[in-house]
Amino acid sequence: MKILFVCSGNICRSPTAEGLFRKRLAEQGVDITCDSAGTNGYHIGDPPDHRAIVVALENGFDISDQRARRIEVEDFDNYDVIYAMDSGHLSALHSIRPETCRAKVIPYIEGRDVPDPWYGEQENFYQTYEIIEAEVDRIITELKELL
Ligand code: 4NP
Repeated sequence: MKILFVCSGNICRSPTAEGLFRKRLAEQGVDITCDSAGTNGYHIGDPPDHRAIVVALENGFDISDQRARRIEVEDFDNYDVIYAMDSGHLSALHSIRPETCRAKVIPYIEGRDVPDPWYGEQENFYQTYEIIEAEVDRIITELKELL
C-alpha cells in the first residue's frame, strides 16, 4: 500500500506527516510506503522549512533529506490513499483528480484543517506537529483495515 500527504508548498505540513508516518509504520513493522507533495510549485526542489526540521528532530525523526514536489496527475493512480492536510487542498485535489483512479482522496482530519504554520513562528510549528501527531494512531488503524 502507498499513501501520499498533500499540503500547499510541501515544505511544512506534509513533509512532517510523511516523516512521522515513516517512523511509526517502521516501528510497528507495517509495510506502507509514504510520500508527500504540494498543490503549488513555489518550493519545488527545496528541503522542508528549517522550523519543521527542528520539530521533527526533537521528536526523533529526520526530514531534512526530503525535497518538495508538486502533485502530478499520475499520483492519483500511484497511491491508494491521498490525505489533504486542509480543506483547500481537498478542493484542489478533487479538481485535478481523474474521474476514475486508484486513490481515495480524503481529509487528514474530517472537518478540521491542519493549520498552515508557514507564516507563523516556531511555536506554530510545534502546534501543527501536535495536531498531526494526534491522528497517527487512528489513521494507522484505519490503514491496517485496508491491508
Ligand atoms: P505547507 O506550508 O503547505 O505546510 O508546506 C506552506 C509553505 C509555503 C507556502 C504556503 C504554505 N507558500 O505559499 O509558498
